[in-house]
Amino acid sequence: MEIEDVNVITVLGAGSMGHGIAEVAALAGFEVRLRDIESELVDDGIESIEWSLDKLTEQGQIERADADAALDRVSGHVDLAAAVDDADVVIEAVPEKMAIKKDVYDDLEAAAPDRTVFATNTSSLSVTELAAVTERPERFCGMHFFNPPVRMELVEVIAGDATDESTLELIEDLAVEMGKTPVRVRKDSPGFIVNRILVPLMNEAAWLVETDEATVAEVDSTAKYGLGLPMGAFELADQVGIDVGYHVLDYMHEELGERYRPAPVLESKVEAGDLGKKTGAGFYDYADGDGAQVP
Ligand code: 3HC
Repeated sequence: MEIEDVNVITVLGAGSMGHGIAEVAALAGFEVRLRDIESELVDDGIESIEWSLDKLTEQGQIERADADAALDRVSGHVDLAAAVDDADVVIEAVPEKMAIKKDVYDDLEAAAPDRTVFATNTSSLSVTELAAVTERPERFCGMHFFNPPVRMELVEVIAGDATDESTLELIEDLAVEMGKTPVRVRKDSPGFIVNRILVPLMNEAAWLVETDEATVAEVDSTAKYGLGLPMGAFELADQVGIDVGYHVLDYMHEELGERYRPAPVLESKVEAGDLGKKTGAGFYDYADGDGAQVP
């Protein structure tokens, strides 16, 4: 398949990454089917797209008419078969757990047309292992967006052991069509490139707080004003979702060893359901909209 043949993109999972990817695809002119397992989740995803399109319009980054046209190109689905029956490419962005993703690919393989290309937005998991659940590992690769997808330029395109060169080229072309810059990841190793660098940084920040060597605010100030990062480590953890960072780290710890052991404070936040912006609290409190630090 060539990029000119791609008209319909199905995004599985309407969470923070899924709805953002759907928005980017719709803005690029593709017909988008956004699917999740419950209608409330789909509705929340579409509402988030509307919020983001409004923001981009207010900021003058896009025209109102383009925002409205993009929204019209997105349809919401719960039924998997209906969401994928005319899909040229499926981008999967369901929770970062191997067992959940494998179940999704089992169902997807049965529901999608043979020609459909599968791309996983996994942050860390083995693309080769996920592809092996399907009967099309040569038409399966990683397409890893960054949060928030509508603002972040990079897309990692990850080759599984059996991925065809033509699949990688198609997904790279698709990323370019979406206004992104693809970087090919040749080796399917845990965390790929970005998360091998970024997640240990977040973890080290968490260890500093865990061992009472620095406060959340002190760490974030140094990251912003000393390291030149656009956000502090904890602000970023809250933006990405503490659960997402924790699951990536946990997998890297399992696969790559002790130096990736997650700081316990991350696990406690996950257990408490304080996952960051999406739940209203994480390392900072978002209840009153100002992101003030949790005492
Ligand atoms: N859509 C539209 N607007 C959005 C938005 C979205 N999805 N998200 C935030 N905004 C809005 C904010 O609400 C704010 O609006 P306001 O001014 O009305 O309150 C505005 O954008 C802020 O935008 P600015 O351009 O003024 O702010 P910045 O210059 O700080 O840019 C940023 C925002 C691009 C998010 C920047 O802070 C940044 O680059 N942060 C780092 C993000 C990052 O590193 N992401 C990667 C995480 S790793 C990852 O995702 C991998 C995963 O596998 C773990």
